Amino acid sequence: ATTLTGRHLRSELDLSSAEFRQLVELAARLKAAKRAGTERQRLAGRHIALLFEKSSTRTRCAFEVAAADQGARTTYLDPASSHVGYKESTRDTARVLGRMFDAIQFRGSAQRTVDELAEHAGVPVYNGLTDDWHPTQMLADVLTMTEHCAKPLTEQAYAYLGDARNNMGNSYLVTGALLGMDVRIVAPEELWPEPGVVAEARRLAAETGARIKLTESVAEGVAGVDFVATDVWVSLGEPVEKWGERIELLQPYAVTAEVLAATGNPEVRFLHCLPAFHDLGTELGRTLHERFGLSSLEVTDEVFESPASVVFDQAENRLHTIKALLVATLAPAGDEEPERH
Ligand code: CP
Ligand code: NVA
Repeated sequence: ATTLTGRHLRSELDLSSAEFRQLVELAARLKAAKRAGTERQRLAGRHIALLFEKSSTRTRCAFEVAAADQGARTTYLDPASSHVGYKESTRDTARVLGRMFDAIQFRGSAQRTVDELAEHAGVPVYNGLTDDWHPTQMLADVLTMTEHCAKPLTEQAYAYLGDARNNMGNSYLVTGALLGMDVRIVAPEELWPEPGVVAEARRLAAETGARIKLTESVAEGVAGVDFVATDVWVSLGEPVEKWGERIELLQPYAVTAEVLAATGNPEVRFLHCLPAFHDLGTELGRTLHERFGLSSLEVTDEVFESPASVVFDQAENRLHTIKALLVATLAPAGDEEPERH
C-alpha cells in the first residue's frame, strides 16, 4: 500500500483509484476494530483545526469523534468566533494554523479557500465540503456501497438523481469514474455537472473502464442500478428563492417507490448524504410545504423509511471514513494499518 502520510484531500482528484480504495478498506477495518473494542489510538498528541464557514451536523461530529477515538484533539472555529475570512486572509490563517495544528479541515463555499489553505499551511488540509466537492462524503458512500452490495465496485452501478450541478453531483460523477464504476447522472441538462467536470470524469473513465451516462431520462438512468442516490435540491449558501425554480425542474427526479421499482432490481438501495427533505417537518420544510404544497421534496418519506434506505449506515460511515483519512495522513509512517497484525 502507498503511504498517504502528509497528503491533502482537496477533492477526490487528489487520490488515485488505489488510494481511494485503500482508505475505504482502512475505514472498514477501523469500524470493525471500534465495534470489537480493539481500536488502538495512533493519533495521540495530534491537534486538528476544524474550520467551518457553513453549518454541519455529520461532518463536524465525525471529525470530532474520529479524532477523540484516536487520541487527537480538535479545535472548532467558525467565522463568528475567529478572524477567518473577515479580518485575516486565508493565506495568513493557513500559516498561523499550520504552526499550531497537525491538520486542518475546511468547510465553506469556495474551493479556492481549500486550495489556498493547502498551499500555505504546510500540514494536510481536508475538504469537508465546498460548493464544488464533498470528498469525505464520497469515502463514506463508497464504504456503504461495499457493505450493501456483494459485487466488486467495478461491477456496481449507481444513479444520482436531482441537482447534479453541485458538490454531490460532481463528486458522484468523478468518484465513480475514478473507481471504474457504472455512473448515471440523471437530471435536466441544465443541472448536469459543468463540462469541465464531465471532461475530467471521461478522462478518468478512459483509464479505469468506468461507464458514464448523463441523461434526462429517469427510466433510462436507473435501469439495473444497485444504488439510487439523491441530495437536496437547493444547497447550503444558495438563496431560498431558488426553491421555486428547482422544484419545477426537479419534481420528475424525486426518488419515489416507482423510481426504485423502475430499476428492476429488488435489491436496490437508496443513498442520501443528508440532511433530507423527506417529511418537511423541519422549520424550512414547513415553509416549503406551505409555499409549494408538496409533502416531500427530493425523496418520499416512503422510500426514506423503507428497508431499501441505507442512509443512516451512510451517516455512521462518515465517522469511520474520516477516521481512516486522519489515520492514513497523520499516523506515524508504518503504523497506518495495525489491524492487519
Ligand atoms: N452530509 C453532510 O455533510 O452532513 P452535514 O452537513 O451535517 O455535515
Ligand atoms: N449539496 C448539499 C450537501 C450537503 C451535505 C449542500 O451543499 O448543502
